Amino acid sequence: MKDLKFTRHRRLRHSANMRALVRETYLHKEDLIYPIFVVEGENKRNPVQSMPGVDQISLDLVEEEMKELVELGIKSVIVFGIPAEKDEVGSGAYHDHGIVQEATRKIKESYPELIVIADTCLCEYTSHGHCGVIQGESVLNDPSLELLARTAVSQAKAGADIIAPSNMMDGFVAAIRHGLDEAGFEHIPIMSYAVKYASAFYGPFRDAAESAPQFGDRKTYQMDPANRLEALREAESDVAEGADFLIVKPAMSYMDIMRDVKNHFNLPLVAYNVSGEYAMVKAAAANGWIDEKGIVLELLTGMKRAGVDLIITYHAKDVARWLSEQQ
Ligand code: PBG
Repeated sequence: MKDLKFTRHRRLRHSANMRALVRETYLHKEDLIYPIFVVEGENKRNPVQSMPGVDQISLDLVEEEMKELVELGIKSVIVFGIPAEKDEVGSGAYHDHGIVQEATRKIKESYPELIVIADTCLCEYTSHGHCGVIQGESVLNDPSLELLARTAVSQAKAGADIIAPSNMMDGFVAAIRHGLDEAGFEHIPIMSYAVKYASAFYGPFRDAAESAPQFGDRKTYQMDPANRLEALREAESDVAEGADFLIVKPAMSYMDIMRDVKNHFNLPLVAYNVSGEYAMVKAAAANGWIDEKGIVLELLTGMKRAGVDLIITYHAKDVARWLSEQQ
């Protein structure tokens, strides 16, 4: 065997410190964005059945929730609201005292430095559960844009640091950018759900946000999971319209798309590790079938390796804890 020529890859794996020396990808607490679901009322913590560890919380409990996050070292949250009442045109979304607007004010009062990202969509607020206004069974594009821009402006007025439109109407970044600029919020960035697939992985979220469509599905506005080039077209138009961040969603089955988007555009890139992905991990972990910490850290590291800078994840609290233990 003396003259055998081969490469000794294992030289760099000998010890923990040697492995640390050559590690290419790191997860940081700064990468984490934690989603919260806020409901009207008082003293409510409604566990979401399909998302163990995630609760809908009432406005008065938002402050204590933020305290926990800040103590864990989490620096940004994305806020979803569940209004007491819904209507055909989702008026709760753009009401100056809507649930996301009120939650945003509360957070900024107690934790002004925490980054508040407002989810800008109509589906939690419409009686039919679609992300835009409807006529018969079709979701109308252009009439929805005006309502989305109004929603974004009212969220910015309430103190949101970033606007995150998730509705997938064409032109939503342009409409929101225009609305924000006209209202004097030219300094507020847009984190666009640029590449959002019509995915079965959103099921548990729709329980949490009470936003399931009451008829049909979202396939006429969200993307077909089979498409890759279309993701680049979606990202390209959002960049042209003025997006400041790009989101790819879901995460686990779309790591190729993250890499494609990263290679083509140089905006900060975000993965949304969605509810169904979280539910699968939690269910398997609850059964003792997997090592939850190992699986979650590997999944999130995989997303960063695929090219994302930030990760929206329901695992954020646990991950922040695990990262502190490692230090
Ligand atoms: C609203 C919205 C959805 C998610 C985020 N914003 C659901 C949907 O499009 O039906 C899903 C997030 C998750 O599953 O964690 N448009």
